[in-house]
Amino acid sequence: MLHSIPPSSVKVGMYVTKFGGTWLDHPFWFSRFVVKPKDVMRINEASIPYVVIDDERGVRPESPAVEEQTGPVADSATASENPEAVKVRPKPSSGFQIAKPVRRGPVFEPARRENDRERARNIVDGSLATMKRTLSDVRLGRAVRLVEVTELVDGIVGMVERSPRTLLEILRLKKKDEYTYLHSVAVCSLMVNVARHLGRSEAEVRDYGMAGLLHDIGKMGVDEEILNKPGSLSEAEYERVRQHPKYGHELLLKTANIPELALDVCLHHHERVDGKGYPHKLSGDDLSEAARLGAICDVYDALTSDRTYKSAWTPVETVTAMWRWHGQFDRDLLFAFMQAMGIFPTGILVELRSRQLGVVLENGKRNSRPRILIFHALGRAKRVPPVEIELDDDFANDAIVAIADPEKFGLTIEECRPDAIWNEWGGLDVKQASG
Ligand SMILES: [Fe+2]
Repeated sequence: MLHSIPPSSVKVGMYVTKFGGTWLDHPFWFSRFVVKPKDVMRINEASIPYVVIDDERGVRPESPAVEEQTGPVADSATASENPEAVKVRPKPSSGFQIAKPVRRGPVFEPARRENDRERARNIVDGSLATMKRTLSDVRLGRAVRLVEVTELVDGIVGMVERSPRTLLEILRLKKKDEYTYLHSVAVCSLMVNVARHLGRSEAEVRDYGMAGLLHDIGKMGVDEEILNKPGSLSEAEYERVRQHPKYGHELLLKTANIPELALDVCLHHHERVDGKGYPHKLSGDDLSEAARLGAICDVYDALTSDRTYKSAWTPVETVTAMWRWHGQFDRDLLFAFMQAMGIFPTGILVELRSRQLGVVLENGKRNSRPRILIFHALGRAKRVPPVEIELDDDFANDAIVAIADPEKFGLTIEECRPDAIWNEWGGLDVKQASG
């Protein structure tokens, strides 16, 4: 039987089958495992509403009362914020024991969030100091202090395990004059987050993090006036900028034990899958996955940051634009990036796990929980009365499994516009009546 219990009640020998909340919030690479002594504290301190354990594969909970205090907390929280999401939530399987939904204590959850914010701020403050020292060394022609940089990557990986959303939000709000230093930290965090989503090993995830942290180190060979110039660059200035991947690569080669993956990303993070990038005009499969992902994370952070010459775009505006730039990014990896972040372009046609098609209307306040207008059933290959749903953070009610091509399903782009969908079924009167 499955039991939903608070993270603080998890003990050694219990078999975890699921973490409540989004996977972004729990500290483990896998969701199904027997709890070992080293896992207990990490689970107890995790920013998650509940843990589901299977008593047939591990130790039972000590007291049934525990379940009554927690229950599917995520359900009650979601219901209060969005009653519609509950309407489409699938019924639990017969083996799932439903407990009375009671919210977490009013003090505990904010205290945990504040604790996470404090930790993330400390990581960011420490990384700012480390990157200032590192980049100063590079400007003076010294090698990278690998021990110090590795410690920083380990700290970021740990924070991403604990609460990536908190870390990424603080990094996104970096000040303009911190950009040079914190852009690399942000790309490191994004790379770690996506690599983890892709199921890479812990060692590989650390290499992705190192690659993100060092990808732009060659910028130290470019004058700051050029890097921060408000207007457009002259051809000569642009050529200086285009040299930074090669310069950074040469610089990293002077430091022993830099991971191969980091060297690769440093040299190729400005390449494009259509071969129009630089410095080598590589395309498609000639580019490693890490280099293709580096390009995505680099541009995403640049666009969502305030710069001296432009204001920050929102995460949704950014992924929407990036998806439209055909030829620049690996679209499969860009989709994986969106899944890892829980952010999808508005107006795009998507295929859902429930075998339905829908259009993304918007993302929620936390830049997650996209709202979808469902209007087409794949199993029956026909239109269905439109319904708006909001995806849960943990995708319990449904999930986006692919970006869909309208033509493949006999639809035109016009037919996938939300107003056209509603008009086909009687316009806004139907929308309002359906709640
Ligand atoms: Fe760069």
